[in-house]
Amino acid sequence: MSLQRQHRRKIEGSTLIIFGASGDLTSRKILPAIASLWDQDQLPDEFSVVGVARSPLGNEGFRKLVMSSAAGWESAANYLENFHYLQGDYTSISTYQSLAKLLDSIEQGRQTGKSRLFYLATIPDLFGKISSFLGESGLSQNGASDSTRIIIEKPFGDDTQSAQQLNDGMHRSFSEEQIFRIDHYLGKETVQNLLALRFSNAVFEPVWNRNYVNNVQITVAEQLGVGHRGNFYEHAGALKDIIQNHMLQVLSLVLMEAPATMTADSIQNEKVKVLSSVEIPPVQDVVSRTVRGQYFNGVINSDEVRGYREEQNISPDSKTETFVAMRLAVDNWRWAGVPIFIRTGKRMPKRETQVVMEFNRAPHLPFAGNSARQLGPNRLILRIQPEEEIKLVFGAKVPGQDYNIRSVAMNFSYANTFREASWDAYERLILDALLGDRTLFLRSDEVTKAWEIVEPVQQAFADPDFPLYPYAAGTYGPKESNKLLQSTGHYWHNS
Ligand code: BG6
Repeated sequence: MSLQRQHRRKIEGSTLIIFGASGDLTSRKILPAIASLWDQDQLPDEFSVVGVARSPLGNEGFRKLVMSSAAGWESAANYLENFHYLQGDYTSISTYQSLAKLLDSIEQGRQTGKSRLFYLATIPDLFGKISSFLGESGLSQNGASDSTRIIIEKPFGDDTQSAQQLNDGMHRSFSEEQIFRIDHYLGKETVQNLLALRFSNAVFEPVWNRNYVNNVQITVAEQLGVGHRGNFYEHAGALKDIIQNHMLQVLSLVLMEAPATMTADSIQNEKVKVLSSVEIPPVQDVVSRTVRGQYFNGVINSDEVRGYREEQNISPDSKTETFVAMRLAVDNWRWAGVPIFIRTGKRMPKRETQVVMEFNRAPHLPFAGNSARQLGPNRLILRIQPEEEIKLVFGAKVPGQDYNIRSVAMNFSYANTFREASWDAYERLILDALLGDRTLFLRSDEVTKAWEIVEPVQQAFADPDFPLYPYAAGTYGPKESNKLLQSTGHYWHNS
């Protein structure tokens, strides 16, 4: 299991086959992760990579791409000879026949088994097609002592129905155990630490429930806008891009019950259970629990930035949301009655992903007059990024004759505590997939449950009269987001 890396077995000779080898995800994330794993001696000598794409790169062109992701290396000849390239059309069976031959010859040359990991780094529309061609050409089959696995990355469908279709389609060629669905948030050290914090300590769990927690706030704030991804984002929006996947994953780790063991199925069972307890409101009630926003021009770090509708490839009258705030309820014994507030937005004042557990106030303050007036509620703040920290906020006496009480913070910081560098999410996830460890990947039922939660919101957003509130770039979203919390006597905790 991923949190117990020291016990893992070593990777045998295997081949990573990247569909979409000339694309953005390959050069930004996958190749640098492989270079770094190689550098750290995590990959065996008998490790090969085959890039598949339509562009006429050839081995040489692909190796150039590989080299540019391994910046700073002096000699890489024995690394580069592990990389091969196959030019081909993803929708033609002949590509898969050539791939089968190439893989056979690599494995014969290497004198290893046939362990293969297919990584579909293409547009999601191709996931179904590529996996069925892999099935048709016999490439999805495991040999007796070999493994065959496939990685896909979100978005998994567009709604509940299409996600189900994708699952059903892939299951025609691959078993569920062969499919590794990436949500890169699960590869983040601080996200994994949510489980360590909750289930390796005795002090937090007893207060981690409706008797002590007043409300939970999860924020994924981004400072960046949509950059060059306008075409993609216009069809996604914040709900599908962040809430359906990253935020609901974080939510499930924060709110789930303790797993029986730290194995993939145990953890995924608990995640599915808590996602199944998230209340699904009728479409007409979404408006009273959800705020949808879109940024206009504003200032971030003293720089003028454009509004969403002025960005590249964005329609000038776009109604795509770049901000969503929601009040959720989890109907189970642990969380009944505790509001769970979530929000995400682009062009916020700073990049900030955090979970705030706000505890009930002390039942009585025996201090005279206004001495405790500055005292906020106790909070446990789990900072996921960019700072990797855990902070406990509590009341302390201000030095002096009077009993003045003020909120202070106790802080644990990864950077100041550990000398080991955090692994990049893709390094961890690729290595885990090579090892066949499914803990940090999504099971098909998790994906469909998450779609069921956002489905009424998708339907409500499709109504042209559903409010889309403007907010200035460089702010924490529209003021209606604050009102959403004020209506139940709460307020957002910004860092
Ligand atoms: C991706 C989204 O899944 O996550 C992007 O498509 C978003 O829009 C990104 O910017 C955020 O990831 P991170 O790791 O920077 O928080």
